[in-house]
Amino acid sequence: MANFAVELREVSKRFPAPSGEVVNAVRNVTMQIRDGEFFSMLGPSGCGKTTSLRMIAGFELPTEGEVLIHGKPMGRTPPFQRPVNTVFQNYALFPHMTIGENVAFGLEMKGVPKAERDQRVKQALEMVRLPGYEKRRARQLSGGQQQRVALARALVNRPEVLLLDEPLGALDLKLRKEMQLELKKLQREVGITFVYVTHDQEEALTMSDRIAVMSGGVALQIGGANEIYERPNCKFVADFIGETSFLNGKVVAQNGRAVEVELSGGLRVRSESETQLTGGAEVSVAVRPEKMHINYAGEAANKFDGRVVSVVYIGTDTHYGVQLMGGHEVRVREQNNAPGSRPLAAEGNVVSVSFAAEAARVLTE
Ligand SMILES: Nc1ncnc2c1ncn2[C@@H]1O[C@H](COP(=O)(O)OP(=O)(O)OP(=O)(O)O)[C@@H](O)[C@H]1O
Ligand SMILES: [Mg+2]
Repeated sequence: MANFAVELREVSKRFPAPSGEVVNAVRNVTMQIRDGEFFSMLGPSGCGKTTSLRMIAGFELPTEGEVLIHGKPMGRTPPFQRPVNTVFQNYALFPHMTIGENVAFGLEMKGVPKAERDQRVKQALEMVRLPGYEKRRARQLSGGQQQRVALARALVNRPEVLLLDEPLGALDLKLRKEMQLELKKLQREVGITFVYVTHDQEEALTMSDRIAVMSGGVALQIGGANEIYERPNCKFVADFIGETSFLNGKVVAQNGRAVEVELSGGLRVRSESETQLTGGAEVSVAVRPEKMHINYAGEAANKFDGRVVSVVYIGTDTHYGVQLMGGHEVRVREQNNAPGSRPLAAEGNVVSVSFAAEAARVLTE
């Protein structure tokens, strides 16, 4: 009995580059995507997201390793024999056809009889909240509506797994946010496994049950939004997801999870790590800006003096840049709670910056 909708087992993909070199597009990636899951691959341009997706779809074959769908090794199975459908970034609809004809196209190719075709097109258009749009033309629809037709075109085939490659990339920000919520809702309703590719961290956090953060062809960390945000396993993930200040130093003591790190310039930071570290090892302490506070009156495991170098008031929050002793700069985000509240400090002020030990995570790579 297969537990996973899609599995990548130690998959690598190398492309020959024109210069005669080799591009390592995907390197030894292992992923297990659960049945009914909304799974995202997230990473910067060129990190291997599309290549990974294309190997699941069967448009590319792995150089090494294996792709399994519902426990079945795909080998050289061609795309049309895999129980998956892909929604591409450029979802060009056939402009001369009606919406109904666009959505029915795949079914017609497969020889599905007209009556069943009509029924399934109707259902698919209802799913994407475009009921009764069969007779309209593609050019008579807005960008978001066209995107939904592209989705209907994939859903009408009733795939077990839907692969989506930056499907909202062409939409403006507001529409994209609306579509994110709609897509997530749709995925819950139809219960199809979604494998979603994006370079937008906020989009991935909003929609996904789990996320694979990729860089340079490697899947660095796979986990839920909370896990990846709260417990990044390396500097790249900490930096790519949300905002982080890194304080570089050396491990001076460890007692269970509690780690003391000495920064250049002599500051000692009380931080945490689940792994056993070597004394003297060079590490980075990662702290999120919302977990630091300016001029906090109470006790804190870490409290350092610094000088405010920047203040940016953005309504809900104020963002501070603070230079600590030894030249370490941190970013602090304070919520502006009261209406009309003023920033806590101005540029040039000497302030204290406080944060808890559990807000400071030790990262080794
Ligand atoms: N057919 C190909 N031939 C040679 N190199 C390729 C080919 N396809 C992809 N690559 C290279 O493989 C790497 C990964 O590409 P891929 O398209 O998977 O990245 P991506 O994460 O989808 O990026 P983007 O966010 O820009 O779409 C890149 O360096 C790219 O140039
Ligand atoms: Mg891509």
